[in-house]
Amino acid sequence: MIDTHCHLNDEQLLTTASQSIEAAIANGVSKIICIGWDLESSKTAVELAHKYDAVFAAVGFHPENLENISEDALLEIEKLAKEDKVVAIGEIGLDYHWFKEESEHANQKIWFIKQIELANKLGLPVSIHARDASQDTYDLLVEHPIENGFVLHCYSGSPEMMERFAKIGAYFGFDGPVTFKNSITPKECVKACREDRLIVETDSPYMAPTPFRGKVNEPKYIPVILEKIAEIRGISLKEASDITDRNAHELFKF
Ligand code: NI
Repeated sequence: MIDTHCHLNDEQLLTTASQSIEAAIANGVSKIICIGWDLESSKTAVELAHKYDAVFAAVGFHPENLENISEDALLEIEKLAKEDKVVAIGEIGLDYHWFKEESEHANQKIWFIKQIELANKLGLPVSIHARDASQDTYDLLVEHPIENGFVLHCYSGSPEMMERFAKIGAYFGFDGPVTFKNSITPKECVKACREDRLIVETDSPYMAPTPFRGKVNEPKYIPVILEKIAEIRGISLKEASDITDRNAHELFKF
């Protein structure tokens, strides 16, 4: 099993990263992609990937963390992206949940496009954060196509929008919310998702699945999420794990 999106580089997990990785491996999670959100966290992600066999890295600036972005910082990201075991640019994208101003949206789009261009230049796929910004993300991707595949991480749009994104090559990452008692749309999306587009992730340390909701999330909970995905789709855990493994390998080219 593969955790395609987590933040072992977050301060809540970093000091105990080796225990988290061991626990994940003991639970059958053999690969973990550690995702950056700015320059420092991207550096840490690459360091973890170099230190631990099971860890791979993604580097980039998250739309909520653009205060220190610059052309120079992007050059640093480019250098990091060329390091061994960096499998994606991410997480990058648009966040209109925390940012409501038109000028902020415009700024996010500028840096999203620049980082897509970087991914295309380096031949890497992209891990996308899109929150309350489905339509703008879709429009931007139509105008600036990603050449080596992308995943909409923690997919939170509608099933209809999912089908439109699938047509332009999207994979969809599902995590803790599919296990939450009152969540409806994530479950509908898991059910409707094309089999060859389904990916699993934890987004640790955030969004721990039920029954660990509210606690610090870890990659070791991937089987808990997969169990729910299997139940929703009416397949076995083994099948769910095989499908999501295959898709993750297809996208990230491990
Ligand atoms: Ni994340």
